[in-house]
Amino acid sequence: KVKLEVLPLHDHLEYLMDCCKIINNEWKRSDTARLHSLKSSCKELPTSLILLRDRILIGHSKLSIIPSMTNACFVESVVIDENFRGQGYGSYLMKETEEYCRNILSLDRIYLSTKGQEPFYCKLGYTECLPVSIYGNHVSKSLLDHNNHDRKEGMNS
Ligand code: ACO
Repeated sequence: KVKLEVLPLHDHLEYLMDCCKIINNEWKRSDTARLHSLKSSCKELPTSLILLRDRILIGHSKLSIIPSMTNACFVESVVIDENFRGQGYGSYLMKETEEYCRNILSLDRIYLSTKGQEPFYCKLGYTECLPVSIYGNHVSKSLLDHNNHDRKEGMNS
């Protein structure tokens, strides 16, 4: 039976380079810059979660702070190794990411932004919502949101 684990990267730094590779394979950036950003993963936010399949890294998600909201976080850089896509691993990673937000970080809402993967997130219960500022007070992005307790409807664009 295949063993799946979702773990915080900062507790398993032996996977740092594999994690860098899988993300950079999808969104090209220098390894130095990517490693720098991954090394900021910590117990508070930001946190990078890794998905291991039989101890091999096949996925990543990153939770970031939303300065104006203490009960929510912003999920980004969700990626599954291209050889393992379409087999339910992305859904598994998102479910475990939600559990981590709820149980470890005590957050009750997740925001994310996507261009192209709307069907994937809709299947997982995310709905469109009004733009939310993830930086300061004036920069807005279109987001999907997911209420961790009861699914809430929203709108954006
Ligand atoms: N369009 C339509 N349906 C999709 C898509 C899509 N692009 N992607 C997945 N689905 C569907 C699948 O068919 C599946 O449906 P089913 O349950 O009826 O079979 C369901 O969504 C779940 O699919 P999974 O197999 O769990 O998804 P997968 O393991 O392929 O992971 C992911 C999805 C993470 C989007 C992966 O395709 C990937 O890494 N893509 C490239 C990187 C990317 O675009 N990441 C998202 C960026 S947005 C963000 O990070 C917030």
